[in-house]
Amino acid sequence: MAFNIIRADITKFKADAIVNAANSSLLGGGGVDGAIHRAAGPELLYECRLLGGCKTGQAKATKGYRMDCKHIIHTVGPVWRGGGNNEEQLLRSCYRNSLELAKKLGCESIAFPLISAGIYGYPKREAIDVAQSEAKEFLKENDMDITLVIFDRDSFEISSERYANIKQYIDDAFAAAQKAREIGRTAECNMCGAVPASVVSEPETKKKEKKSLFFGRGKKETADLEEYKIECEDSCIDDIIAQRDESFSQALLRLIDEHGMTDVETYKRANIDRKLFSKIRSDAMYRPKKQTAVAFAVALHLDLPETESLLAKAGFALSDSLVFDLIVKYHIVHGIYDIFEINEALFRFDQTLLGQN
Ligand code: AR6
Repeated sequence: MAFNIIRADITKFKADAIVNAANSSLLGGGGVDGAIHRAAGPELLYECRLLGGCKTGQAKATKGYRMDCKHIIHTVGPVWRGGGNNEEQLLRSCYRNSLELAKKLGCESIAFPLISAGIYGYPKREAIDVAQSEAKEFLKENDMDITLVIFDRDSFEISSERYANIKQYIDDAFAAAQKAREIGRTAECNMCGAVPASVVSEPETKKKEKKSLFFGRGKKETADLEEYKIECEDSCIDDIIAQRDESFSQALLRLIDEHGMTDVETYKRANIDRKLFSKIRSDAMYRPKKQTAVAFAVALHLDLPETESLLAKAGFALSDSLVFDLIVKYHIVHGIYDIFEINEALFRFDQTLLGQN
């Protein structure tokens, strides 16, 4: 199924399995471990006592008790000692063993905290990379809803250079959109005969000059343009009519074929689960959410016009006035089609993530 990142308190999260970042005694502690024991109630500690501890990188399960989950999977992350003590492999084992255990227990959904990234001192950025790559790896062969639950947004830093670049892109687009609106307002004033305030005090001749600058074309040229506009509108309408019968679902299936991809490759890359994909496949009139439609465009590595065209089939567009749209555009324009990378940026800017959520 899908991998998601959310900001929440994991003790309030609903999933078949909730993972606890425990210590090897399994007898409770601080951080998320303490919070889970408090939320689950004292019965959790009774059961934990029977487990006989757990080695670093391994995982053991108990019931969920008062938490909104069937199982709590306790795993013991490595203590960070500079990175040269097998920390990464041990952290990977935590995710792998927890996921395998959840699968054995028949879970369809699982939520992880950022194991080892608190009291155990694992660098947050690297801890997130491990969590993401292990989830991705597991999802290649298995179906499960995997959620990484981040407690504080500061834990989720994309590189400051990337953040600055995206921020700049958004600011530039906002500034350009604002300028376009101002020009539009001035042009509107001219169209209706009103004179913009900035021109009122200028001599008549200057006003005329300005006016002709705005319109900038003689009568003949304007007539040609009108004709062109009508022609263009006609052909656009023809295009629309020709494509009228192609729904989002049909366009998507056509694009999958054209790109030589399989359904599975496509929905996995799009971070969409098989059930939703089947729904889209079997219902020609299915109307997806915007983040789902964009996810497919990203999975298919569509360029910007192709993305716009696919989105239009579902009644959406990418605007320069929305942060979500601009972050998507930024990545497409820069040829970045890794949905998890895009989601990191969306998460950082507090936006809805791509795929299914
Ligand atoms: N929900 C989600 N994430 C949380 C929550 C919460 N309620 N509370 C903390 N976090 P840590 P570790 C985040 O220290 O580094 C315990 O004493 C937190 O911000 O809980 O693996 C155990 O008994 C951080 O990003 O676990 C062990 O002795 C992440 O969870 C030791 O701490 C993990 O932080 C384990 O240390």
